[in-house]
Amino acid sequence: MTDQITKEEPVYVTEALIAEDIDAYLDQHQHKTMLRFITCGSVDDGKSTLIGRLLYDSKMIFEDQLAALETDSKKVGTQGQEIDFALLVDGLAAEREQGITIDVAYRFFNTEKRKFIVADCPGHEQYTRNMVTGASTADLAVILIDARKGVLVQTRRHSYLCHLIGIKNIVLAVNKMDLVDYDHAVFDAIVKDYAEFARSIGIESFTAMPISGFKGDNITTLSANTPWYKGPTLVEHLETVEVLSSVDADKAFRMPVQWVNRPNLDFRGFSGLIATGSVKPGDAVRVLPSGKTSTVTRVVTLDGDLDEAVAGQSVTVCFADEIDCSRGDVIATADNPPQAADQFEATLVWLNDEAMHVGRAYWLKLGTQTVSVTVQQPKYVVNVNTMEQLAAKTLDLNAIGVAELTTDRAIVFEPYADSRTLGGFILIDKITNATVAAGMLNFSLRRSQNVHWQALDVSREAHAALKNQRPAVLWFTGLSGSGKSTIANLVEKKLHALGKHTFLLDGDNVRHGLNKDLGFTEADRIENIRRVGEVSKLMTDAGLIVLTAFISPFRAEREMVRAMLPQGEFVEVFIDTPLEEAERRDVKGLYKKARSGQLKNFTGIDSPYEAPEQPEVRVDTTRETPEDAAERIVNLLLGAK
Ligand code: ADX
Repeated sequence: MTDQITKEEPVYVTEALIAEDIDAYLDQHQHKTMLRFITCGSVDDGKSTLIGRLLYDSKMIFEDQLAALETDSKKVGTQGQEIDFALLVDGLAAEREQGITIDVAYRFFNTEKRKFIVADCPGHEQYTRNMVTGASTADLAVILIDARKGVLVQTRRHSYLCHLIGIKNIVLAVNKMDLVDYDHAVFDAIVKDYAEFARSIGIESFTAMPISGFKGDNITTLSANTPWYKGPTLVEHLETVEVLSSVDADKAFRMPVQWVNRPNLDFRGFSGLIATGSVKPGDAVRVLPSGKTSTVTRVVTLDGDLDEAVAGQSVTVCFADEIDCSRGDVIATADNPPQAADQFEATLVWLNDEAMHVGRAYWLKLGTQTVSVTVQQPKYVVNVNTMEQLAAKTLDLNAIGVAELTTDRAIVFEPYADSRTLGGFILIDKITNATVAAGMLNFSLRRSQNVHWQALDVSREAHAALKNQRPAVLWFTGLSGSGKSTIANLVEKKLHALGKHTFLLDGDNVRHGLNKDLGFTEADRIENIRRVGEVSKLMTDAGLIVLTAFISPFRAEREMVRAMLPQGEFVEVFIDTPLEEAERRDVKGLYKKARSGQLKNFTGIDSPYEAPEQPEVRVDTTRETPEDAAERIVNLLLGAK
């Protein structure tokens, strides 16, 4: 085997390429279709060996790399002269020592008929997020089973995740057939077992094949060891299976607009990647969410105009009419457009170390649309090993759950089952910018279509005009005992004396009424501030100057309230009293209790306070009297107007 290879010209590098290299790779093989697939299984199942074998058999190994491999194989003690293909793939030294693959690695290879991108993801449960990432763009999944072990818990987990992500083509690769003497009965029993499970979770079909990654049986050529097997080899199957974009091409036309292409006054086109369906000049289209219609005049690409373009192609379309259309809009078939909604049931996979905060505002990015979203307490989470549905208050790292979410404005979408592009999304933390979850929209909630914002004749401007003032929210934040209530109270007295219409919402008071069901856990504090934010917003609609005095320890919620209000109406006042000073004053004796352990989750002691980064006003109460601070705040508020 080795002799043969050294004579051959090596063709491609086997290294995992990074995203930017994908384009270069694709350019080289433009004429071929592409299949993206994922391999699922653990190291024990021979996953790395199989991938190594695929790369090796398509001659993607450098000679010197091969030599290194042979030496390595001997070192590790592989029997005889056989090459340990796993060593080729598990390239990272650390990984090799640990004996597990730790991240998603994308590898590229091609055959005469097709080019392939394979995502190699670790199989352990704590790497669910890696697997979901790898699976999200895959057309096909190879589920590896060790013929000696049969269907395991992890086989079920991997299959469930692949099905959840919407992979329609499942290959059940019963590996290590050499170790069970290529026994037909063993293979049949495993397939039967798997079929039963697959049906129970809704997998409609799968292709089973007996293979040996190590020996090369049924990988590129049919093996004489399994004369009873009549199906295709693995590579044959990978070369001929239908890919996602050809399935998507038969659906209704949808293209999320990535940008408006306007190089000069004579040309205006809308560029994007066609998610589903096809488009050609003369087609009647509708732009969403506005609903405006027009006719396509041209379909433009870098290589000139096209008669027709289909799912998977990036194009620029031009319209007969000058209608509004911008980034984030979706262009669709006029008579069969997708819906827009702002409340959904979704399935979420939590990707972040920090658990989900119910009620916190995150960014939701769906295709080219980005909106603010809040997620409710999950209806349930799924035990990925048993598929049981369990009650849960939040989603932890790697958890998969179903929850309702509300966006701050309507988004154009389709259920994920119909369109990965218009139904798949990610959640982003507004402060850290980290991607915290991946999600799939299941359906919109009917109430989002039926609850309309009542257009009122007496507008917020009219309310404010009658009071002869501009509404505002003076948002006091700081530690317990920092002086928020004292200063807010002084400010209100001064404003009142000046004839201003004000209202003070104070933490201790609101917690006796509206929010008496809330405690001091993170989740409750988030909900406390969300409600106070909503109430403040309504009060500014009524024309009032609102003062709020809440610890409001989290930046995210303060920013959420800021975003709810018109520009300039939110004035953040940071009462910056050092913890030592607040504790020394200990007006309510609560710090003492917290220190002695009688009071849990006390801000500054065993619960965090995130200080504002750029407050409109900062008051250091160790240098400025409450009276002076109040005077300064009033001047700032009224002087600015
Ligand atoms: S917030 O964190 O949700 O914004 P809020 O301002 O409403 O808090 O309430 C804080 C007040 O509740 C404190 O001034 C204190 O009197 C009281 N309190 C009782 N338990 C706690 C606690 N564990 N942490 C902070 N404040 C507490």
